[in-house]
Amino acid sequence: MAEVALRPIDDSDLDALFEQMRDPESVRMAAFTAENPDDRAAFDAHMAKVRALPEATTRAVTVDGRLAGSIASFVVDGDTEVTYWIDRSLWGQGIAGRALALLLESVRVRPVFARAASDNVRSLKVLQRAGFAIIGTAISFANARNTEIEETILRLDEPAKSAPPDTSGGDRQTY
Ligand SMILES: CC(C)(COP(=O)(O)OP(=O)(O)OC[C@H]1O[C@@H](n2cnc3c(N)ncnc32)[C@H](O)[C@@H]1OP(=O)(O)O)[C@@H](O)C(=O)NCCC(=O)NCCS
Repeated sequence: MAEVALRPIDDSDLDALFEQMRDPESVRMAAFTAENPDDRAAFDAHMAKVRALPEATTRAVTVDGRLAGSIASFVVDGDTEVTYWIDRSLWGQGIAGRALALLLESVRVRPVFARAASDNVRSLKVLQRAGFAIIGTAISFANARNTEIEETILRLDEPAKSAPPDTSGGDRQTY
């Protein structure tokens, strides 16, 4: 079975991540996206900003060592939120679910929040499978739909699991 892993984002990942994050079908699904997903300068500025935030964790998602997407946690008004994006050619293989499980092992703060367009069924499934529960909805402006739409707000309350003993001499962690 393919191995999903997380690692820090490298500058050489940015061309592929930009292409993934401007794929029209993906953008429509995510809905709450950059104002103009085709604006490379804005993308570069955003990535530089989030990669430098001390309270954010931004990771490349790899499958058997090859870049497949990205995942991040960040803090908004004191709340930790997660978000992710997988290359459309790789959807439906459980990659987002596995990446989210890995991120939640590394980001141990609880609760963790997430938001998804209420019609983003795939993302809602990924989140609920990871243990997130729906706590409400909001109406917000979605750049990719150019209108206000409903988003679903989810929360993961499960206490952080204790870390497994590290017997690898420090080599185990891949991110
Ligand atoms: C949402 C997204 C990350 C899912 O990635 P993925 O790797 O395909 O997700 P997974 O394979 O781990 O899980 C997808 C889930 O949707 C289900 N699914 C697959 N095809 C589906 C379909 N056509 N309709 C509804 N659900 C579907 C799968 O069965 C799975 O649920 P399960 O774990 O209960 O079986 C990916 O589609 C994406 O990057 N979309 C664009 C960006 C985005 O929307 N990001 C999230 C913002 S909140």
